[in-house]
Amino acid sequence: MTNTFPVLGIQPFSFLCPTRLVFGPGSVAQTGQILADAGITSVLVVVGSRFTKSSSGFASMLQSLSDASIAWTEYSDVHADPDDTNVRTAAIMLRKEGHQAVLAYGGGSPIDCAKSAALSAANGADILDYLYTRAQPQRPALPIFAVTSTAGTGSEMSSAAVTTDQSESRKLGFSHPSLFPQAAIVDPALHASMPPSLTAATGLDALTHVVESYLSLAANPICDAINLEAMRRIGSSLPVAWADGSNLAARANMALASASAGMAFSQTGLGMVHGFAHPLGSRLGAAHGMANAVLLPYILAAMAGHVAPRMAQIDAALHGNADPASTYSATSLVETIVSMNKAMGIPASVAELAAVLGVDKKSLAEKRMDILADALSYRSRPRSPRTFSDSELATLYDVAVDGNLERAYRI
Ligand SMILES: [Fe+2]
Repeated sequence: MTNTFPVLGIQPFSFLCPTRLVFGPGSVAQTGQILADAGITSVLVVVGSRFTKSSSGFASMLQSLSDASIAWTEYSDVHADPDDTNVRTAAIMLRKEGHQAVLAYGGGSPIDCAKSAALSAANGADILDYLYTRAQPQRPALPIFAVTSTAGTGSEMSSAAVTTDQSESRKLGFSHPSLFPQAAIVDPALHASMPPSLTAATGLDALTHVVESYLSLAANPICDAINLEAMRRIGSSLPVAWADGSNLAARANMALASASAGMAFSQTGLGMVHGFAHPLGSRLGAAHGMANAVLLPYILAAMAGHVAPRMAQIDAALHGNADPASTYSATSLVETIVSMNKAMGIPASVAELAAVLGVDKKSLAEKRMDILADALSYRSRPRSPRTFSDSELATLYDVAVDGNLERAYRI
């Protein structure tokens, strides 16, 4: 893949996002009508935690289904980071009940589970066959609808879904055009109940999406516009939403940034922050957004000598272009992210993250080779703006473990 960023001209690209976005406070009450308009009369509702299930937003969504005479059954055993058993169970329910569609309510976990189940059920196939590219879908997924209760995953507007292979402890992503939801219902009022820790983790996931998408070798001018706009909203609103969860304007900005990021990264792919965050999730139990946030400064520092102008543009966008362009640089971006992380209580290194999760140093060292092997085979690695060798990535992981940011610049 050739790196011809816009200053040199526009490289050929395609852009697809067929998802209908229904955005705004109170939009959850439209869910039933949106499904009815699409001809859906029977749906599998996929929802995650007990907390989410007992929320007023979930009740409002179910009421809207009743009002639209839509029949449903509920699958509510989805874990954080759904595994192949979750997907299989949901797919069996879909087929057994003869539902026409899936409707996910929650964050990335139920949305991704619903997507993978919709694809598996339509094809009568096991999700692992797709994750390990042993087969390709012959039919599109059943129609997917998503209502978000967090702002970060982007799955509500993306063509990707991540599933954990339980037996191998590996998180693997799969993309397919039919995994774009038919409609995403993004009601920022539902996000107000997120505690600060979840606001930080999900918001920093959204930040990582726009940064990695903007720096991808497959970046294009439409995605650039989407990503820069989302960066501006995240830079101004994430600290506000974290400090005051009831601030609806900040919640709305984050919700919009998350959804639009999903649209962009579906075109461009992500990068090595996600490449390492997936194994840190599956092998250490790190929350996805938290793992991204810890890794982001190190991977950016290692890319500083390769995409400095683009990194400076990201920092400018995060600051709303408040100062002259010359104020911003690759280094200032890294510093901005370090200070955002620090302000929101994000661990400063992978070792600190592991300690918070109760993983001791010996255990972390024992997992090193497996984490590295997963990261090296990450599907978006070829889109990284710096072509890291295997040994450079190993060094990068080690400096992120040790918290040695200065060393990351010199890789
Ligand atoms: Fe992510």
